[in-house]
Amino acid sequence: MTEPKKLFIKTYGCQMNVYDSERMAETMGAQGYVQTDTAEGADLILLNTCHIRERAAEKVYHELGRMRGLKAENPNLKIGITGCVAQAEGAEILARAPMVDLVVGPQAYHRLPELEARARSGEKAIDTDFPEEDKFEHLAERPKAKRGPAAFLTVQEGCDKFCAFCVVPYTRGAEVSRPAERVLKEARDLVERGVRDITLLGQNVNAYHGVGFDGDWGLARLLRELAKVDGLERLRYTTSHPRDMDDDLIAAHGDLDKLMPYLHLPVQSGSDRILKRMNRGHTAEDYLRLIERLRDARPDLLLSSDFIAAFPEETEAEFEETLDLIRTVNFGMAYTFKYSSRPGTPAAERPDVADEIGDDRLRRLQILCTSQQRAAQENMVGKEVGVLFEKPGRQPGQFVGKSDHLHAVHVTAEGIAPGDLRRVRVTASGTNSLAADLL
Ligand code: 5AD
Ligand code: SF4
Repeated sequence: MTEPKKLFIKTYGCQMNVYDSERMAETMGAQGYVQTDTAEGADLILLNTCHIRERAAEKVYHELGRMRGLKAENPNLKIGITGCVAQAEGAEILARAPMVDLVVGPQAYHRLPELEARARSGEKAIDTDFPEEDKFEHLAERPKAKRGPAAFLTVQEGCDKFCAFCVVPYTRGAEVSRPAERVLKEARDLVERGVRDITLLGQNVNAYHGVGFDGDWGLARLLRELAKVDGLERLRYTTSHPRDMDDDLIAAHGDLDKLMPYLHLPVQSGSDRILKRMNRGHTAEDYLRLIERLRDARPDLLLSSDFIAAFPEETEAEFEETLDLIRTVNFGMAYTFKYSSRPGTPAAERPDVADEIGDDRLRRLQILCTSQQRAAQENMVGKEVGVLFEKPGRQPGQFVGKSDHLHAVHVTAEGIAPGDLRRVRVTASGTNSLAADLL
């Protein structure tokens, strides 16, 4: 018997990449590949890359450098770069890293088997086109194997917003939504395989507008239909833009029990001048009003956001407006970034804030956001929440899961199984997780 070929995928960046990596593994699975979790001994290595900040691309080249020896050990090894660095750099990658055999952009994953075959025949295979077809339709039908209780489901890709700092509209292309019925079918399929919690993904997920069975559906309508799927207990979506938060979607946060009380809604800055320079299309006040309406609909909503420190020409006073906005909203979770200049974006043409100032602002952002995150966790102590258990914890008898608000929760008790959705009372807050007792 010949040994199956081994596939190693390393995923960088966002949840969309995690989802794409799963789909690629399934597609190559149909070609006789089994997935391994080490690069050593693999016959195909795919680095599924992210281009959002500068060091992300550098990490990929660094990783390639570390893999240099592997080809000498295994002459059959082919190395592919997928994801946004592949899309943005294309043939550049082959010039800079001749060990690479395949370069495949995010819109061409359904052609992976064909590209891999070309690479095996000694060609350098590149595909960074934006085809018209729905790549997910062509990716392998999911085998009906069981899987964990929580899953991602991509419903939308690309972005038309053109924030001045961001490469996504260039690497992922224009906004495209998948037809609603395909999304519903994929969701039912996931539920049959044991999934109870689905996070809808899109670069701009709340701009979703897919064809449904009675016309065009927005994200709210899609969520309302998904909430009717028996066995599907929890829904979330990410990432959203404040401008696309429409009345129906805000109302859905109040109407749909299955829509979890957690929302990632990036604001980036609290200064109106910087928001304008970023081309965000809203003011700080617009954002605050939106948060108020969301909290009216769902009072226990936990909010999360992205912030960029030291955007070009940001003054100290403008940075402090960001800190003020954070204090006003009180976020349960936050992702903080120092501005990183991306070639080809409008902001890259503008004068940068000095590096030391950027570092200092990032640090101050982190201190404030970490303290709010801790406070939000502390605030859960004594409360009842739902937890979806995923796997055994490190201690004997311990189980870990995710709360309705996406906190990691540990419970030590008999009779818990993966996939159980239980009510618990939170007893303590640790650094990055909560402890709780079953009710
Ligand atoms: N520099 C710093 N942060 C960035 N992000 C996107 N582009 C840049 C950049 N050039 C951040 C934004 C976005 C998150 C995914 O990454 O905050 O919401
Ligand atoms: Fe990038 Fe702005 Fe689009 Fe988000 S909304 S993906 S930050 S351009």
